[in-house]
Amino acid sequence: MPSFQPAIFDKSASQHVFLEFALRRSDNADAIKAALRTLRAGLNTDIKLMVAFGQRLWSLLDSSFEMPAFSLEGRVPATQGDLLIWLQSGDRSSLYEAEMMVLDLLGAHCGVQLEIQGFVYRDSRDLTGFVDGIGNPEGKKALAAALVKEGHPGAGGSFVLTQKWIHKLHEFHQLEEAEQENVFGRTKADAVEFDDERMPANAHVGRTDIDRDGVPQKIWRRSVPYGNAREQGLYFVGFSCELDRLDHLLRNMYDMNGEGVRDRLLDFSQPVMSSWWYAPTEEWLGKL
Ligand code: HEM
Repeated sequence: MPSFQPAIFDKSASQHVFLEFALRRSDNADAIKAALRTLRAGLNTDIKLMVAFGQRLWSLLDSSFEMPAFSLEGRVPATQGDLLIWLQSGDRSSLYEAEMMVLDLLGAHCGVQLEIQGFVYRDSRDLTGFVDGIGNPEGKKALAAALVKEGHPGAGGSFVLTQKWIHKLHEFHQLEEAEQENVFGRTKADAVEFDDERMPANAHVGRTDIDRDGVPQKIWRRSVPYGNAREQGLYFVGFSCELDRLDHLLRNMYDMNGEGVRDRLLDFSQPVMSSWWYAPTEEWLGKL
């Protein structure tokens, strides 16, 4: 059984940097391979690294399967990147040094299209104040939700959706707490999920805790908040055993599955960047 990149599941770090890169030229796959080899060998041990590829770079590196560029029929800003680097650490200084190393190694071959400096906010809360990630599957169920099954293209790796969301926190915080809870479908202080009777059809959990043809559409979420004087929001990071599952969840939020219900969260936050990625196994990365 191939092994997954540990940084997908290791939640011990409080500080995060995400870098999305766009290739400068399309024929420099060998240079990027060499840069990734050096990066993996040279990072301090207190840094956790996850690497994932967008459709264009993946097609240059591996011909065993193809993946699409992000699209949701124009309903969501599609900004498909080529390379995603996620650095995690408890130490801000190490993280800074690691980010500079990434930029030194990759900067000549690809340009930064997104940088997020994120952090674990309080007890794993989104900046709205709601605990995020508590509904994730656990143990073997988490692996099953996140990793591509044996016998399928990309087995052992994971399909990833990333989206930079910008919150309208003033508007959200003007709602009474009970109304904020209706937006998510969980209580705010202790994150208890509403039962079926209390769950509004347009609550975020109502739109995302779903079955499709009898199969629960569970994913593994590792979203990270970011915030500064200019903007505040969430870098959504969702891992799935199948790309279509992430697509289906987004369609359910955006009322594209024909049910006439749109996720109320969209009234208070909007994605401005979205990409699909494939995060290969450790073995695959070891052969770069
Ligand atoms: C601003 C963006 C978002 C915020 C602030 C947010 C926040 C939350 C919160 C607070 C919960 C409830 C607690 C939990 O179960 O962890 C939740 C659940 C969930 N969210 Fe999101 N989310 C966002 C975007 C998304 C997107 C884009 C997707 C999928 C494409 C998604 C999928 C899910 C799923 C699958 C659940 C768990 C449902 C269940 O209980 O099974 N979320 N989210």
